[in-house]
Amino acid sequence: MPGLLSSPVCLTVIWFLSWSLRPSCAQIQSDEVLDIQYGHLESNVTLACGQSQIRTTVVWRHNQSSVLPWHTVTSDGRLVLLHVDHSAQGHYSCYDDRGLLLHSISLRLGYPPGLLSVSCQVPNHTLVRCSWEESVRTFLPAQYDVSYRGNGHEWRPCVVDVARRRCDIDHPSFWQTIHTMRVTETNALGSETTYVRFKLHELLKPDPPESVLVKELQGYPRRLVVSWSFPSSWPQHDAFPLLFHIRYKPQGSMYWSEIFSKESPAVIFDALAGHFHHIQIRARDDVNSDSQWSEWTLSSPAKPWEVFTTPEPEEEEFFTDDVVVSITKPETSTAKTYNPEFEDEGNLGLVILLVLFSVVILTTVLSLIFVVWVRQRRRDHVTKQELTSMVKMKSMPI
Ligand SMILES: *[C@@H]1O[C@H](CO)[C@@H](O)[C@H](O)[C@H]1NC(C)=O
Ligand SMILES: *[C@@H]1O[C@H](CO)[C@@H](O)[C@H](O)[C@H]1NC(C)=O
Ligand SMILES: *[C@@H]1O[C@H](CO)[C@@H](O)[C@H](O)[C@H]1NC(C)=O
Repeated sequence: MPGLLSSPVCLTVIWFLSWSLRPSCAQIQSDEVLDIQYGHLESNVTLACGQSQIRTTVVWRHNQSSVLPWHTVTSDGRLVLLHVDHSAQGHYSCYDDRGLLLHSISLRLGYPPGLLSVSCQVPNHTLVRCSWEESVRTFLPAQYDVSYRGNGHEWRPCVVDVARRRCDIDHPSFWQTIHTMRVTETNALGSETTYVRFKLHELLKPDPPESVLVKELQGYPRRLVVSWSFPSSWPQHDAFPLLFHIRYKPQGSMYWSEIFSKESPAVIFDALAGHFHHIQIRARDDVNSDSQWSEWTLSSPAKPWEVFTTPEPEEEEFFTDDVVVSITKPETSTAKTYNPEFEDEGNLGLVILLVLFSVVILTTVLSLIFVVWVRQRRRDHVTKQELTSMVKMKSMPI
């Protein structure tokens, strides 16, 4: 047994235990007396050294240092910090004249809540999401109590997300035109209630359209086909149709052109041939014209089809959702390398020549047929006359 006790392993264990237990005891001791106190910035804050008021001499320390912010100590040992600023925050402890710790306080400074600026988003007919910002920074943790009601109805709670400072109303009643929201912020120094009124149908603002795709159309140097999908937060019901606003401009231009569409895809017919374009889309509830347009989508760059990429435009069909368009003649273009306008004129001349030629041939053939027919008729007439005269002669009594 003595051999075991004196073994190096056992000694190490004993040393380790005594080392690790000592600080934890000290920790427990200071935890027992730690208080959190909140104070108003720019005011005088009084810290008491524990419950008991009768102290002959008390020594205060701040963040373990004997340097204290601007202060006075009262006769009963309380520390009065004057006109405190942020640097006066931290850990305060008081000791008696023998250096024994009497009490510890953690001081946090800030302001009572002020009015909030509240804003609400309505991304679809089933959700209202309200968020708020402090008009005064309080620097202190706060709690929020939020409720709302439609005109002349009961207050209902709004489900709060404290970290994001927002709350959600599920399935709001759109038919109640005006809603009131009440947000009460409470912190250690006070509380304040903010009221806001809003009209849901005016706040309705969809998220921007998604999956925007702009493609060239082969054979058409002035066209672009724009497709997109509904915002994923918008219910895909026919009950809530959206109107889409598409704007586009050649790169470097200041002026947007625009088209409206209720369905994807849409075709731009007047793009500038040979140039990159910027295309953006936004959406709005098609039925409720008081509602708001979504934000624009990010710019999608695209260039119309160009002749040198694929030669010889041929007769071609393309599909949109509801129409099949069939075009036989290529459009005119202003591309530098190729000018179909001239070729078009050449083609036109050829066509006119062909038409004239065929008209001449047709007239010739028709007049020939006419001449032959006239001659035939004359001959017929002559033979008829001959026949009748022969018959007459035969029937004549001799
Ligand atoms: C803070 O205390 C000082 C000194 O006692 C006094 O002059 C001052 O008016 C006090 N300020 C406030 C805001 O109470
Ligand atoms: C004391 O500590 C607190 C928090 O730990 C800090 O905010 C404060 O600035 C410190 N003050 C001084 C004077 O060290
Ligand atoms: C309404 O929008 C919210 C937030 O984007 C979304 O979570 C919810 O699914 C949407 N409701 C419907 C019916 O699409």
